[in-house]
Amino acid sequence: MTAQAARVVFLGPPGAGKGTQAKLLEDRLALRQISTGDILRRNVAEATELGRQAKPYMESGGLVPDALIVGMMEPELARSDSFLLDGFPRTVAQAEALDAALRRLGKPLTAVVLIDASRDVLVLRLTGRWTNPRSGRTYHSEFNPPKVHGVDDLDGGPLEQRRDDTLEVVSERLATYDAKTAPLIDYYRKTGLLVTIDGLKPIDEVSADVLRAISGENGAAA
Ligand code: AP5
Repeated sequence: MTAQAARVVFLGPPGAGKGTQAKLLEDRLALRQISTGDILRRNVAEATELGRQAKPYMESGGLVPDALIVGMMEPELARSDSFLLDGFPRTVAQAEALDAALRRLGKPLTAVVLIDASRDVLVLRLTGRWTNPRSGRTYHSEFNPPKVHGVDDLDGGPLEQRRDDTLEVVSERLATYDAKTAPLIDYYRKTGLLVTIDGLKPIDEVSADVLRAISGENGAAA
């Protein structure tokens, strides 16, 4: 582990701002974002075997089975010394598999950042979100609009609304988070690595808080 190595997990409900913050930090720090959602969506778009198996779970707001996710993530973890895990782990079984893989690689986590926000705001954010399917960069029609409607500010590519951002699927995703992923808050609290960030603040303020959490400035206390 080099002095600057940072291996970070982003936890938080759908719409809390994990992807938004990961993209901003990836641009500012030498920290590779590994987004399970983006990898899965690429596999679905390319109609790979993994994508074919994952698609029905993603479209219904459920979780893709642990074995598929762990198999997909192991080579990703080995590729870099510093990384930001966005959307993984999402179950206790995935967290245990992550611990075991990082132990084997000699790359312990350095921080777990929980970005949280209230339910009503999460629903508004997801149903108004516009995504660049190639880069995963996100905008919001009201809270974070692109300069030109439907066009990515940075690469000029077209923006789309995700198929799982309908009100019905969003409700299911939030219920899945409560049942399967929220238990990870206690799991990581016990490690002393968890820092909780208020995701209701403006995007740049959340970024500043996340940067402090990653650098350990505000201590690892939930
Ligand atoms: P994934 O793509 O990971 O979706 P998610 O966790 O539901 O997260 P989101 O991308 O919806 O939310 P976010 O927190 O990144 O919010 P964002 O920054 O975009 O997973 C999709 C599916 O894949 C899952 O449902 C599951 O089926 C499967 N999957 C993925 N990982 C898996 C795993 N490990 N195991 C099993 N299955 C897995 O922000 C949302 C909006 O709000 C944007 O429009 C943004 O502009 C805006 N916004 C962000 N921050 C702010 C702010 N501070 N103020 C105002 N607006 C803001």
